[in-house]
Amino acid sequence: MTAFPQRVFSGVQPTGNLHLGNYLGAITRFVALQDSHDCIYCVVDMHAITQAVSVWGGPDELKKSTREVTAAFIAAGIDPDKHIVFNQSQVAEHAELAWVFNCVARMGWLNRMTQFKEKAGKHRENASVGLFAYPTLMAADILVYRATHVPVGEDQKQHLELSRDIAQKFNGDFADSIRAVTGGEEFFPLPEPLIQGPATRVMSLRDGTKKMSKSDPSDNSRINLTDDADTIAQKIRKAKTDPEPLPGEEEGLKERPEADNLVGIYSALADKPKADVLAEFGGAQFSTFKTALADLSVARLSPIAAEMRRLTADPGYIDTVLVRGADQAREIARPVMNSVKDIVGFLR
Ligand code: TYM
Repeated sequence: MTAFPQRVFSGVQPTGNLHLGNYLGAITRFVALQDSHDCIYCVVDMHAITQAVSVWGGPDELKKSTREVTAAFIAAGIDPDKHIVFNQSQVAEHAELAWVFNCVARMGWLNRMTQFKEKAGKHRENASVGLFAYPTLMAADILVYRATHVPVGEDQKQHLELSRDIAQKFNGDFADSIRAVTGGEEFFPLPEPLIQGPATRVMSLRDGTKKMSKSDPSDNSRINLTDDADTIAQKIRKAKTDPEPLPGEEEGLKERPEADNLVGIYSALADKPKADVLAEFGGAQFSTFKTALADLSVARLSPIAAEMRRLTADPGYIDTVLVRGADQAREIARPVMNSVKDIVGFLR
């Protein structure tokens, strides 16, 4: 087995508002990995346009959202001076490698992707080809840097498995050529998903069986990173619950999806295990717990929202960060793509 140096890659789409699920499931994990790894964090604008223009809002909205996600990264604690932060479309190697991967991945593999089925819905024939090929671009995002670790929320697990399948098939299909070009056995690492923490799947505040999502028509179903303190408190007060008081132990959260979700959110925001949260609030009514959760949410999220506002007021600064990040990313991606060309047999 070839040993690959550890490198972290992950991406977030600039489509509409970032919510608490994106923050707890992904962005806080990105922040945590900075001390131990070289990290590349990408605003995946090419993925954003896989859906209808009405969904991502058109060119002005895309620019605004791209800057907003970048601001959220920085406001949450990602350091663009120590790690790479950029937007995907500035590094053409993503699209180049995605094409090769379109020829490695099989229709049958992509046909199994549950996110495509969810997003395409009943109108499959009307979905863009880009939406169908979304996971091959995602594999290219990761593998063009030969990244080994990918922090994501639970919903991305299947896409990560597909990335591994693509890497493995490429390594197998081109084994002789890889040996001839690089002298090594495998060209791509099999990237490992990092799905960690108490909030890998934050659920809707209106329905504990549905994922918190940007596309939910009800804004009350999610807490947006840009919500003000009153809105956050109101959404938590209105969150669906059941009539029982909170249990004293995790076992008691089974079959109580809404209670489980709110305790999970508290646990992630307070950075302590669910068991500790239940030790504190076991036996309490939801009204008490919701007040504490609203206070904690506001305390954690308000400074981020304020910093995002400050940063987005200076789009010039954000654009400079993205251009510089893209330059650094390209430095890594270009030699990898050149080797891929040599391995596949593209003259250059
Ligand atoms: P996106 O923008 O939909 O989501 C960004 C991240 O947020 C996580 N997430 C959640 N985590 C917990 N609970 C939720 N309710 C919740 N909703 C979203 C997602 O799992 C994700 O980690 N396809 C990716 C973007 C991408 C990517 C990549 C990721 C493109 N290329 C390469 C990793 C590596 C996505 O879904 O983004």
